[in-house]
Amino acid sequence: MKRFVLAAVAAIVMSTAAYADTIKVGVVGPFSGPFALQGKNFKAGIDAYMTTNGNKIGDNTVEVIYRDLPAADPAQSKALAQELVVKEKVQYLAGFYFTPDAMAVTPILKQANTPLVIMNAATSAIVTKSPLVVRTSFTTWQTSTPIAKVAHDAGVSKVISVVSDYGPGVDAENAFKAAFEKEGGQVVEAIRMPLATNDFSPIMQRIKDSGAQGVFAFLPSGPTTLGFVKAYNENGLKAAGIKFFAPGDLTQESDLPALGDAALGIQTTFHYAVSHDSPENKAFVEAAAKAIGNKAELSFPAVGAYDGMNVIYKMIEGTGGKQDAAKAVEAVKGLSWVSPRGPVSIDPESRHITQNIYLREVVKADDGTYYNKEVQTFEKQGDPGLAAAK
Ligand code: PHB
Repeated sequence: MKRFVLAAVAAIVMSTAAYADTIKVGVVGPFSGPFALQGKNFKAGIDAYMTTNGNKIGDNTVEVIYRDLPAADPAQSKALAQELVVKEKVQYLAGFYFTPDAMAVTPILKQANTPLVIMNAATSAIVTKSPLVVRTSFTTWQTSTPIAKVAHDAGVSKVISVVSDYGPGVDAENAFKAAFEKEGGQVVEAIRMPLATNDFSPIMQRIKDSGAQGVFAFLPSGPTTLGFVKAYNENGLKAAGIKFFAPGDLTQESDLPALGDAALGIQTTFHYAVSHDSPENKAFVEAAAKAIGNKAELSFPAVGAYDGMNVIYKMIEGTGGKQDAAKAVEAVKGLSWVSPRGPVSIDPESRHITQNIYLREVVKADDGTYYNKEVQTFEKQGDPGLAAAK
């Protein structure tokens, strides 16, 4: 009997030890459907981080569990997050490409005692919805503010704004307008398109008819942005001299081969270019290209995911692997490091990433490939949208 009890106790101790040893991270993103390449980039960034840094933190082993959410679908997002927390017992939630999907998860974080590390969704207000949210991507306020100065410096004073009608699009519209008016420019018309729009010809006609010298545009990266930039060219706007201003979502590297020469010269502002010249980025691109299998498919969600894993690893260190969401978030407030994108830090108040924003121009390399070439740096940009979100 005594031996039996001892064996049973040993079995319990071993099983709890084994349980405590594996720390699960639940990652939600678009791994199928039209935006699958964006999800593939999440995974490439995570794999690159874990092959470079290992999957052990002290005695703990990190395990990533993926859930597919092909489109913006808040109800399904919440259901997947709940399943990850309750059934899979993940200690961390991460990923989230689309804003509505991230927003839908913020109400469950406190009760689940789970931090949410956002690797893409870019509407400013998300971080205000729960103190357990940390973001390693960007906001459209952050990326759309500097392009307004670029437009003004190009001698443009009248711009028409065209955005997808949801969180990051509305933020981009407001950011551009605020910064452009400050420069003395004028937004002559502001169009908001349904997220599902894929015929852009009527929009292009409205841009032509507006009399604006330039167009400011934001759509979420994917087939949407590819279609929009193609339509800008094919409908003769480029030829008519209507200048194009946008954050870098519109010229993500994986779209450039399909855009071809039509993309040459387009200027965008963004937090990351695959071509960024630094030893950290060189190492990252090598690891991430290996993970994704084809370097031409690499794009910005990979760096958001890579840095998101860095934040999660620091959270695991800071809590000694225990599930304590508040302590985990505390552990990364003010954290600074050199990302593949350049120097970054987590703002202790907003829990959003402070980073350089770069002006880039699409150019052709000697080998015939296209890339975003960084030509100017706006250093240490916080999120101008948080004041507006209050
Ligand atoms: C978002 O939904 O927040 C989002 C998605 C794709 C982007 C930017 C923002 O390129």
